[in-house]
Amino acid sequence: MHRLELTDEELGAIRPLVKEVASRHGSVEEADFLDNANTYAQELPRRLRAFLNTFRLAEPRGVCLISGYPVDDAKIGKTPPHWRKKPDGSSTTEEEIFLNLCGALLGDAIAWSHQRGGLICQDLMPIKVHESKMIGSGSERALVWHTEDARYSYRGDYIGLMCMRNPDAVRTTFALIDEVPLDPEQVDVLFEPRFVFRPDPSHPSDSEGEKAPVLFGDPKSPYIRFDPYCMDRPETEETQTAMDYLIRAVDENLTGVALLPGECLFIDNYKAVHGRSSFKARFDGTDRWLKRINIARDLRKSRGVRKAPASRVIL
Ligand SMILES: [Fe+2]
Repeated sequence: MHRLELTDEELGAIRPLVKEVASRHGSVEEADFLDNANTYAQELPRRLRAFLNTFRLAEPRGVCLISGYPVDDAKIGKTPPHWRKKPDGSSTTEEEIFLNLCGALLGDAIAWSHQRGGLICQDLMPIKVHESKMIGSGSERALVWHTEDARYSYRGDYIGLMCMRNPDAVRTTFALIDEVPLDPEQVDVLFEPRFVFRPDPSHPSDSEGEKAPVLFGDPKSPYIRFDPYCMDRPETEETQTAMDYLIRAVDENLTGVALLPGECLFIDNYKAVHGRSSFKARFDGTDRWLKRINIARDLRKSRGVRKAPASRVIL
């Protein structure tokens, strides 16, 4: 794991910064906060900035973990029952600011207007009525691994997760494409734009598919775009074999981490697929609770579907 443990000295710099930003902006959803997030992030400790810069630039691993940020379990309050029921601003604003400042060192946070009310920083928790569904707010069924928003070429480059609580040690799962042994013959096929991607259930207003390759970039260390549950069954035996081969290879290399309170996990959406283990939720305010952001390295890719150059919401 590409990992950084914050020192007391670093926390001594981070906490006043986060407090000062919180006093200026009530919420990370404020346009004024988002416009300035990258500027504030320059005041994070240099070792943390260098760590995230290496993760972005050199792609040493498909995931990285920042640990040591203290979360006060009593202060954050109960795990909300639904993402719409955001606890009144204050209880997790500082945690959200820390996650967003780290994310700002990787790119610009984006949101989708039709996903969770267009929120930039989303609460992930089990929702009672979704208990048996295979979605982010489900619990009893594992969330099968996938590339986030695989259908869209302007999908985020990174997903940032910050743990508020995880008392049942529910694992966030992932597989790193660089750790999946690949057969060059199958790689050749997977590099061809012969695979049809469909929107996942979080994009209900859309159904149109896009034909694209599953692997791209450098054949020796490829990028991956893969969400088998939301892709058409390939038409030829050759493409079917290649797709089945990669599904098996990813399955065999799936690993994960049970995040601890305060830990931030950044997943490179080009170098890793991710999911979640199943668990038995209690729905009593003590369940697993994560914050999530989506980060784009190049906002311009989605300019055609956003209102203004600095707007973060994809329409
Ligand atoms: Fe996801």
